[in-house]
Amino acid sequence: MMITVENLTKEFKMNKKYPGFKGAVKSFFSREYTLKKAVEDISFTIAEGEIVGYIGANGAGKSTTIKMMTGILTPTKGRVLVNGVVPYEDRQKNAKDIGVVFGQKTQLWWDLPLSETFSLLKDIYEVEENDYNERMAFLNEVLE
Ligand SMILES: Nc1ncnc2c1ncn2[C@@H]1O[C@H](COP(=O)(O)OP(=O)(O)OP(=O)(O)O)[C@@H](O)[C@H]1O
Ligand SMILES: [Mg+2]
Repeated sequence: MMITVENLTKEFKMNKKYPGFKGAVKSFFSREYTLKKAVEDISFTIAEGEIVGYIGANGAGKSTTIKMMTGILTPTKGRVLVNGVVPYEDRQKNAKDIGVVFGQKTQLWWDLPLSETFSLLKDIYEVEENDYNERMAFLNEVLE
């Protein structure tokens, strides 16, 4: 898995807000907008097997970068390549090869028994039956 990020930029177009109720109505019909630059000209590569951290102050643009790398958002400028796939052009293909966790939410479903959750994820990620059973047996053994 190789990740390349080149000159990545994301601008959000936001409808200009006017104060008060009249303002809200005016904002709703207005075509005026302001641009918010969330990510500006970011470039990096991550090699196979490399483990990295991405740090920055609140609002620095970390989540927005990850959203473009996972295909949730399309960049305003620049390009992302994850293992040969452009995530925002082929989101489903990319999603099969990655895992992402936002806001402390886990991959586990609250209302399902653990084994059902794994079984569901097995189908989503198209894990072969044999492979699945082998991995489950291994994890059951080492984690008891
Ligand atoms: N959908 C959006 N529309 C408008 N502005 C946005 C949107 N998403 C993010 N922003 C703005 O873009 C900037 C970057 O936000 P982002 O969430 O990427 O930062 P972050 O580094 O993840 O911050 P934190 O450490 O708080 O999670 C912030 O100023 C944020 O308010
Ligand atoms: Mg964030």
